Amino acid sequence: MRALASEISDRIFQSLPFGVLLLDRRGRIAACNRRALDLFALVDDDIVGRDVNDVLRTDDPHWFSLDPIDRLGDPDAGRVVEGRIGGRKVTFSVELAPCTDEAGATQGTLVLLDDTSRRGTDDDRMERLISLGELSAYVAHEIRNPLTGVRTTIQFVGQKLGKDDPKQEDIEAIIAELDRVEKIIEDLLQFSRPQVGTKAMTSLNTLVDRTLEALGPQFEAAKIEVNRKLRSRLPESLMDPDMIQRVLFNLITNAIEAMPDGGSLKLTTTVRRYRAGEANLEVFISDTGRGIDPELVERIFQPFFTTRPTGTGLGLPISLQIVRAHGGRITARNRAKGGAIFRLSLPRATAPAEEA
Ligand SMILES: Nc1ncnc2c1ncn2[C@@H]1O[C@H](COP(=O)(O)OP(=O)(O)OP(=O)(O)O)[C@@H](O)[C@H]1O
Ligand SMILES: [Mg+2]
Repeated sequence: MRALASEISDRIFQSLPFGVLLLDRRGRIAACNRRALDLFALVDDDIVGRDVNDVLRTDDPHWFSLDPIDRLGDPDAGRVVEGRIGGRKVTFSVELAPCTDEAGATQGTLVLLDDTSRRGTDDDRMERLISLGELSAYVAHEIRNPLTGVRTTIQFVGQKLGKDDPKQEDIEAIIAELDRVEKIIEDLLQFSRPQVGTKAMTSLNTLVDRTLEALGPQFEAAKIEVNRKLRSRLPESLMDPDMIQRVLFNLITNAIEAMPDGGSLKLTTTVRRYRAGEANLEVFISDTGRGIDPELVERIFQPFFTTRPTGTGLGLPISLQIVRAHGGRITARNRAKGGAIFRLSLPRATAPAEEA
C-alpha cells in the first residue's frame, strides 16, 4: 500500500501541469519535475544538486527567499522572475511556499513555476485545474477500492463488538470520516469527467420537486421552511436530467448550509422570452441565510474555494461546468433583505443537439 502511495505521488509530481522545484535552504535544487525541465528547456534532470542561481541567472539571487523583510515594499517580488538560462532570456511566474519538516521547521522552499503567458484569467485556472482533475480521477480510482475494503472491515468489527460497546462511537466516527473521503473522491471524479450524458425532454419543475423531496429530512432537521413558486405549464426542455438535478441539489444544499439556525428557502421557476421563439428557463434559489461576503463573491465559483470547514469547494464549479455544457448560466447575488439568491438559467432546447 505504501509503495503504491509513493508511486502515485511520484506520478502526480511528474505530470503536474506546472513546474515544481524543491530548493533546500541554501538554494540548491533538491528535486524538480518534468514540466520544470520543459520550462527551462533542459532535457535531462542533471540540475538536481545544483545551485538554482547557477541554472537560472537573475539580478536578484534571493528571488526565492521567503523572508518577508527581503520582500518588503516589493509586493510583486517572487511573482515574476526574469533571468537567463544558458544565455537565453526567460520570464516565469512563480509562487513560493515554505517546505517544512514534521516539526514545522522550514527546510526549504517549494517553487511553482509557470509561463507568464499562462497567468491570470479564471478560465486559465479552471483549465489547469481540469487537467489536475484528470490526475485526480486516476488517484481517486486507485483509492476507491482500498477504501471500500476499510469500510467493510470496520463495519465487520462493529458488528462483532455488540450494540452497547463504548467503542461503537469510535467506529461511527471512522465511518463518518470515510463518508467524507468518499464524497471528496466523488466530487473530484465528477469534476474531471465529461459533464453531460444523455439528454431528454425534461420538466424543470419535476426536477425541482424531486430534489426537494430527496432533501426533505434536511429541511426538517434544520428548521427550514420551503416555498415553491413553480410556474404552471413550464415548457419541457432538452437536458441531461441527472446532471441538472445534481446542480439543483448542490445549490439547495448550499442554501441549507447557509441557514444553520433555520430560515426560509424559496424556489421559483419562470420562462423568460427574449426573442421570437427563443426562451430561457430559469430557476431562482433564494435563502435567508448569512449571504455571501461581498469580497468573496468573485471567488465562489473557483474550484476548491470554500468557507466551510468540511467543504470541498467543488459544488459550484461542478454546477457551473454542467450548466455551461447546456449553454446556460449561473449567477449569484445577495438579497437586499439578507441571504443569497442563485439564478440558474438554461436556454430552452427542443431539437436534439448536434453531436460534436
Ligand atoms: N447560499 C449561499 N449563501 C452563502 N454563501 C454561499 C452560498 N452558496 C455558496 N456559498 C459560498 O460559496 C462557497 C463555495 O460553494 P461550493 O458549493 O462550491 O463549495 P462548498 O459548499 O463550500 O463545499 P462542497 O464542495 O461540499 O459543495 C461556500 O463555501 C460559501 O462560502
Ligand atoms: Mg456546496
